[in-house]
Amino acid sequence: MKISAIVLVLLGALLSGSTHGAGVLPDSLTAFAGETVTFTTTVPPQETPLMVVTWTFTDNHGTTSNIITSSNANITAPDYSGRITLFRATGSLELRGLTIGDTGEYTVTVIPTGAGHQKGYCKLSVYERVSNVSVTINSTELMEFSGPVTLRCFSSGSSLTFQWLNGSSVVTASDRVQLTDGGSALTIVNVTRYDQGPFRCHVSNAHSNGTSDAVDLLIILGPEDIKLTVFPLKEYHDQGSDVILTCSVVSRPPAQFLWYLNGNPSVHKTPELRLMNVQLSQRGNYTCEAFNNRTMKTQTSQPVVLTILKSNVSNAVITPNATDLSEFGSVSFTCSSSGSSRSFRWINRTSEITAGDRVQLMDDGSRLVIINVSRYDAGPFLCHVFNNFSNSTSDAVKLSINFGPENINLTVFPSQQYYQEGSSVNFSCTAVSSPAALYSWFQNEVKLSDTGPVLRLVNVTERQSGNYSCQALNNKTLRSETSQPRILSILVPVSNVLVNPNVTELVEFTGSISLTCSCSGSTRSFLWLNGSSEVTASDRVQFTDENSILIIHAVTRFDQGPFRCNVSNGISHGISEAVELVIKYGPYNVTIVGPQSVYAGDPTMLYCHSESFPAAEITWFFNGQPTHGHAAVHIVPSVQHSNGGTYACAAQNTVTLQNQTDHHELTVTDFSPCDCVPAAGFAAIVTVGICLLLTALIGLVVYCVRRNKRVNSNYPARDKEKRSVKEKHRDVYKKTGTVKNLSF
Ligand SMILES: *[C@@H]1O[C@H](CO)[C@@H](O)[C@H](O)[C@H]1NC(C)=O
Ligand SMILES: *[C@@H]1O[C@H](CO)[C@@H](O)[C@H](O)[C@H]1NC(C)=O
Ligand SMILES: *[C@@H]1O[C@H](CO)[C@@H](O)[C@H](O)[C@H]1NC(C)=O
Ligand SMILES: *[C@@H]1O[C@H](CO)[C@@H](O)[C@H](O)[C@H]1NC(C)=O
Ligand SMILES: *[C@@H]1O[C@H](CO)[C@@H](O)[C@H](O)[C@H]1NC(C)=O
Ligand SMILES: *[C@@H]1O[C@H](CO)[C@@H](O)[C@H](O)[C@H]1NC(C)=O
Ligand SMILES: *[C@@H]1O[C@H](CO)[C@@H](O)[C@H](O)[C@H]1NC(C)=O
Ligand SMILES: *[C@@H]1O[C@H](CO)[C@@H](O)[C@H](O)[C@H]1NC(C)=O
Ligand SMILES: *[C@@H]1O[C@H](CO)[C@@H](O)[C@H](O)[C@H]1NC(C)=O
Ligand SMILES: *[C@@H]1O[C@H](CO)[C@@H](O)[C@H](O)[C@H]1NC(C)=O
Ligand SMILES: *[C@@H]1O[C@H](CO)[C@@H](O)[C@H](O)[C@H]1NC(C)=O
Ligand SMILES: *[C@@H]1O[C@H](CO)[C@@H](O)[C@H](O)[C@H]1NC(C)=O
Repeated sequence: MKISAIVLVLLGALLSGSTHGAGVLPDSLTAFAGETVTFTTTVPPQETPLMVVTWTFTDNHGTTSNIITSSNANITAPDYSGRITLFRATGSLELRGLTIGDTGEYTVTVIPTGAGHQKGYCKLSVYERVSNVSVTINSTELMEFSGPVTLRCFSSGSSLTFQWLNGSSVVTASDRVQLTDGGSALTIVNVTRYDQGPFRCHVSNAHSNGTSDAVDLLIILGPEDIKLTVFPLKEYHDQGSDVILTCSVVSRPPAQFLWYLNGNPSVHKTPELRLMNVQLSQRGNYTCEAFNNRTMKTQTSQPVVLTILKSNVSNAVITPNATDLSEFGSVSFTCSSSGSSRSFRWINRTSEITAGDRVQLMDDGSRLVIINVSRYDAGPFLCHVFNNFSNSTSDAVKLSINFGPENINLTVFPSQQYYQEGSSVNFSCTAVSSPAALYSWFQNEVKLSDTGPVLRLVNVTERQSGNYSCQALNNKTLRSETSQPRILSILVPVSNVLVNPNVTELVEFTGSISLTCSCSGSTRSFLWLNGSSEVTASDRVQFTDENSILIIHAVTRFDQGPFRCNVSNGISHGISEAVELVIKYGPYNVTIVGPQSVYAGDPTMLYCHSESFPAAEITWFFNGQPTHGHAAVHIVPSVQHSNGGTYACAAQNTVTLQNQTDHHELTVTDFSPCDCVPAAGFAAIVTVGICLLLTALIGLVVYCVRRNKRVNSNYPARDKEKRSVKEKHRDVYKKTGTVKNLSF
């Protein structure tokens, strides 16, 4: 309350244009009955209380009375006792429990200590709030064009202003409408149908307002403007169809209806007459009658003729909007036929179609829409049209649904890893597609001119090897799919396998040799054979050019071969002729084989063994002196004591320029007491014969040993061999001894 009073004071002060009272008080203030108001002076708060403060009140009739006089004592008028508070510091006054009677002018006089007096004036308006707004009416039901009717508005509050509202518009006075009693009474002299309200009364004063409840007037009128409408509006209605007749009329209160068919009243009393599954018996002249039970008036509509026809269903025909479409498109079928009150049933192959996610039945079932068509929706589709007494079935309609290609599959016949040049190969490509896919073929991703699902390759050449793939294209869906590639390897059989050494003759340890394998046909792999064993790589043996070249470094006498090259591919293999290398070596293992002691007079023979190619040249020495002998066998027909001594055999290879010498001690003893002297010469001959035989035998043994040696076999075998050769000779001599013993 206090706050609003202060707001009012400020408002009053702002609105004040007067200099009355030199601005000690605001010019005017407003407040509501029951509230509190404070008259605030502009006197600054004094340290010593004001000497004198007086407040007086002048009412609207000009009667002035004292409120309070405060100096050294306070004199308060009895009317104000307990209702006021005086603020001695500023002279401001608070007035509580306001009534309408407090409206008037308030005057303050202040005399500060040691200063002149000041005076202030303020007009206070006290209002009562608007409340309890209500409306009375002396009649709520009137005939149109009757009256007058009066609405009165009641409200508590002071200084009230009245306003009437019809709906949301403000009612103004006119010929027909009078506003009296300060606007609180509304009289309508001659009511019309538009005066039905709702009416409300809005009451306001300076700072409050209120609105009454709504009041309705019933203006009785009609019936008038009767109209009968038919839905659907047709010249003829099919038997079995639905017809709705609607009767509309202007009437207050609402009219009561009655329907007539060919002048006979029906039982229907509603404004709407629904004829479901209409039958021939229901044809005729329809009228509706409206009755207002207040005006007691009746109005009858113009008759409406309802013509009902019965016709058989015939000529059912399906019209699709497309018959050739791609998967996932939409198609719409329309079923048309003659006949009345038709129902439709759609058949897919043999089963009836029901509406679902993909299937819509529209236009009372005469239109079928399939969205997101799949390859399984080809039909045939039938439309069965029927009514209560006839039916007709359309011809079947098939759709051609384009889809694919999918699941492309490339196969080859015959299926094998390698094909021989000149053979025939068939590739076959399949794909799921409608219409059938168009096929194209690719070799190493280059398109071939061939088309069709089968690619026939006849009398193939090696050039036709490569990656083959096929592509399927559907020229309706414009989609294509390409198969995984298949590898075709066409090989020419291997032939003319030849081995070419770069040199054919060389000296042991002095060089390398390379053997080149060449052939015709498709090559795949080379295998080298030394004799019957496979040649493997080592520090001396290398393969290059995909094993087609064999290189042997630091050739030894065991590397003579025979070498052969085995070439193979997926379909064939070929082996070269054997190639033997000529390797010059030696001499090695120069050994003199012969008896250590002989009887004087016996014949004897020394044999100089050497391993050398070509054969070594032999020179014999006796006690350091060369003898004339150059043969491998040195024969002494009859040993003398002078033949005892040191024999040496020097073997020289004229190609390798190597030589080697062996020494042999021969002791000659005296004739033994043997009586078979003549046999001695014979024994010597036998010995020589055996020696020659031995030479041949040893040659054969050495040849065999070497043949069995690997190219990459170890050298230390040589020393062993040297020893073993000597031992073999001794063994042979022992045997000969045995033979001699047996012979003699
Ligand atoms: C007069 O009234 C004022 C305010 O109500 C108070 O401050 C003052 O003391 C009173 N004077 C006497 C003499 O009672
Ligand atoms: C009421 O108004 C209507 C039309 O405005 C007029 O025909 C009728 O005579 C009036 N009635 C009276 C009583 O004034
Ligand atoms: C309603 O009151 C008005 C004036 O008070 C009077 O003229 C009128 O005839 C009354 N109407 C009815 C229907 O009583
Ligand atoms: C009625 O009073 C309310 C506050 O009580 C105020 O918001 C509204 O504007 C007033 N209406 C009129 C028409 O004075
Ligand atoms: C319906 O009324 C028309 C005239 O409005 C008349 O010619 C016709 O014969 C009537 N039909 C029946 C069935 O009563
Ligand atoms: C008059 O008609 C109204 C609406 O049709 C109905 O509510 C009322 O009961 C009827 N009065 C009489 C007396 O028949
Ligand atoms: C056929 O009708 C369907 C559904 O209304 C529509 O989506 C489609 O585009 C139509 N096809 C053609 C070829 O008009
Ligand atoms: C038609 O029938 C086939 C199988 O009989 C079915 O797969 C397909 O979804 C059906 N289509 C429609 C539109 O009913
Ligand atoms: C269609 O009509 C024929 C007679 O015209 C009737 O024999 C047959 O049962 C009817 N079929 C259906 C499905 O109503
Ligand atoms: C491709 O076709 C062959 C032969 O017709 C068949 O064996 C194979 O399973 C098919 N492969 C695929 C992935 O369909
Ligand atoms: C196969 O092709 C070769 C040339 O590529 C030809 O010489 C030969 O006659 C052909 N053979 C056949 C049966 O056509
Ligand atoms: C599609 O391919 C078929 C053969 O499969 C051909 O008859 C037809 O003309 C082609 N259509 C177009 C539009 O290329």
